[in-house]
Amino acid sequence: MTVHFVGAGPGAADLVTVRGRDLIAACPVCLYAGSLVAPEILSWCPTGARIIDTAPLDLDAIIAEMAAAHEAGLDVVRLHSGDLSVWSALAEQTRRLDALAVPYTVTPGVPSFAAAAALLRRELTVPGLTQSVVLTRTSGRASAMPERETLAAFAATGATLALHLSIHVVDQLVPELIPFYGAECPAAVVFRATWPDEQILTGTLATIAGSVAEAKLERTALILVGPALKPEDFSESALYSTGYDRRFRPGFGSSAKGDEA
Ligand SMILES: C[S@@+](CC[C@H](N)C(=O)[O-])C[C@H]1O[C@@H](n2cnc3c(N)ncnc32)[C@H](O)[C@@H]1O
Repeated sequence: MTVHFVGAGPGAADLVTVRGRDLIAACPVCLYAGSLVAPEILSWCPTGARIIDTAPLDLDAIIAEMAAAHEAGLDVVRLHSGDLSVWSALAEQTRRLDALAVPYTVTPGVPSFAAAAALLRRELTVPGLTQSVVLTRTSGRASAMPERETLAAFAATGATLALHLSIHVVDQLVPELIPFYGAECPAAVVFRATWPDEQILTGTLATIAGSVAEAKLERTALILVGPALKPEDFSESALYSTGYDRRFRPGFGSSAKGDEA
């Protein structure tokens, strides 16, 4: 018996990995995290599967379901939205499973920041503009931010910011960001990326909070900030230039250690 943690992606069922879909189809018990997992994904569960929405359950109750399945020798698929590497409560569940000696696997999913970037049709790292993406959030009721992880500290780098779980405080974030990025810095909000009711708002740091208020968006949205969102003036990467010697395209000019392509 194994508990299979699966990242269910941002919403659209066809963005679940093939491995994830196969695990859902194979497990007689499915625990899923509330409204962020589409009904179509649950329809892949085998006939007669025990399918439980964990939104109203506490951690003890969730682990009790897994332990009962372990006792009965039934495999469990545990679905969380997006990918499991960020804000999935994976760590607290696997710590309990380790203590109970219950085996588990982890299958990645498409994270919401990647889905949002795809909807915007943007690369978040653009040569000469920014080469880093900061995935962060603001303090919430469930988790406080560690003292040193301030928005100002991240903003000081000029990296592309992907702000999760923060749409309800967008008007408070903007004045913190403007000193670092400028009021005309491109900003975007993607609400429920890849769901039928998805919305995309684009603008600048000066305009984005007003657009969010007008659209009345209060949850399940990502705020993206940074010059890469509107890259008008940037240099091309050396990677595909004719003078660049790559491992798989040798013989043209110089090569640099550390770049992979
Ligand atoms: C608990 S976190 C889960 C993050 C998830 N593990 C991931 O990989 O994206 C929930 C937050 O992720 C973002 N999010 C999740 N799904 C989204 C979607 N479909 N569209 C936009 N933002 C989404 C929102 O910021 C939301 O408040």
